[in-house]
Amino acid sequence: MQYPAASSLMYEKILFLYKFIQSPKQVGSITPSSKYLAQAMLAPVNWSLIRTIVELGAGTGVFTKGIYQNVPRGCKVAIFEKDNDMRKILTAKYPTFRFCKDAQNLSREIGALGLSKVDCIISGLPFKLFSQDSRDRILDEVEHTLQEDGLFITFQYSLQMKKQLQSRFRNMDICFVPFNIPPAFVYICRK
Ligand SMILES: C[S@@+](CC[C@H](N)C(=O)[O-])C[C@H]1O[C@@H](n2cnc3c(N)ncnc32)[C@H](O)[C@@H]1O
Repeated sequence: MQYPAASSLMYEKILFLYKFIQSPKQVGSITPSSKYLAQAMLAPVNWSLIRTIVELGAGTGVFTKGIYQNVPRGCKVAIFEKDNDMRKILTAKYPTFRFCKDAQNLSREIGALGLSKVDCIISGLPFKLFSQDSRDRILDEVEHTLQEDGLFITFQYSLQMKKQLQSRFRNMDICFVPFNIPPAFVYICRK
């Protein structure tokens, strides 16, 4: 399927909905996250200290845009998005970022890019809709890839991930973002 190069907000919403209809368990939401959720996801990051950052499940790039606007010069950025069409659009929009497909292969892909441990991982993955096996596998990869003291920030539409994340991270804070469809919880986890 061919998509236009220019991506307006409306076009991104339509693409997102179309992809949700095709693969609801992979996409996990009918519409991209709001700017309020993007702000809450990126607010805990101390950008001056970030040398390597990874985003998992970028979709149409709401968080990717924030990352692009904030990363310090020389910072290495790797973006994971499983959907080929969404990934293609983001690759054209952010040519200086590295792009990978599947978050399940996080450490291998990061190694192939010549990176080792990363300072921060921002995730839009719909963990609740994954099998326990693939949830565990991705969280193992996240734990393995993150620096000591690194930040893992994810959002979910429920508190279902609280115990699982608490058991893996030294510290966790949760904040609620009402202005999103649906309202969301942001989990801020410190390794
Ligand atoms: C809920 S959407 C979030 C998109 C975007 N971050 C946002 O907040 O609008 C989840 C995204 O994760 C992607 N995804 C699901 N499983 C994935 C995987 N194993 N690896 C990489 N991306 C994945 C989906 O294709 C979808 O674009």
